[in-house]
Amino acid sequence: MRWIVQECSALKSKSYFELAELIAPEDQLDQYKMLVARRLEGEPLQYVLGTWAFCGVDLQLDRSVLIPRPETEYLVELALGYLDEMQLSTKASNSNLEGAGLGGNVANSNLEGAGLGGNVANDQLYIGDLGTGSGAIAIAIANSLRLRGKQEFGIVASDISKLALETARENARVNRVEDTIRFYESDWFEGFDSWLCRRFKLIISNPPYVSEGELTELDKTISQWEPYQALVAGKHGTEAIEKIVLEARNWLADDGVLICEIGETHGAYVRDIACRCGYERVEIIADQYGRERYLRVQNPK
Ligand SMILES: C[S@@+](CC[C@H](N)C(=O)[O-])C[C@H]1O[C@@H](n2cnc3c(N)ncnc32)[C@H](O)[C@@H]1O
Repeated sequence: MRWIVQECSALKSKSYFELAELIAPEDQLDQYKMLVARRLEGEPLQYVLGTWAFCGVDLQLDRSVLIPRPETEYLVELALGYLDEMQLSTKASNSNLEGAGLGGNVANSNLEGAGLGGNVANDQLYIGDLGTGSGAIAIAIANSLRLRGKQEFGIVASDISKLALETARENARVNRVEDTIRFYESDWFEGFDSWLCRRFKLIISNPPYVSEGELTELDKTISQWEPYQALVAGKHGTEAIEKIVLEARNWLADDGVLICEIGETHGAYVRDIACRCGYERVEIIADQYGRERYLRVQNPK
């Protein structure tokens, strides 16, 4: 209830206990009753509030998109860790781009500056986010890179859901990173422009990984409210990750890295597919509870 009271109050900066001392105006009371009624129907709090924080950015959420999870925040950390490791995430690394002849040739929008307008340079930092949903991962990464002073980069984000993409675009706009992300309505990589082939230094994805059978076992606040196609990936729950692992080989640059969230029982299976696809440094990474939740692989040179 605390979140709902704070959401309805025009005094969001006040603590919950301070608010309890005040008498709410009629309109705030009506809004409060409406939101509580939605919550009592079982609607997840994040949809009721319509906004939620993820990796330091505020995202607008509705039923067109999955509610971003804390474990996906760790996926973003892994991705940023990789960019740091490769020294790709800071302002200093922009000088490489300048060396590549882009310094004096940065176009109006970052997308064009980063070559997303079709203006390709080999040293550019291109990042892919597959199944972007609310835009959570793409926006969090863009925001972090900006905070580190990194200017020239381009993020390409895809989703099969038109409605999700509308939400993602709005989130990018509100968080002022819309000039760094290009959204594609696409079945994974299918709709990407061909010049992006073998350009990505990093591809990141949190694909659906629940099997059709497991859906009924999920909490109803998930299965009845969040989008089916954001949750379910075929009979075994591995359909999406298989496709991404297979196809990413053609889109990653030499040495480029793919980092994905995976279902906790899928580690051995996903590792096997990645090895058979010819990736190097195939790693299954555990979360803080020891569950195998992430895949990280590198494209060979
Ligand atoms: C688990 S959600 C992840 C959303 C967001 N990236 C996050 O982490 O909160 C998976 C997303 O993949 C999208 N998706 C499902 N099938 C897809 C496909 N074939 N091609 C592209 N996106 C797809 C869904 O619409 C959904 O937005």
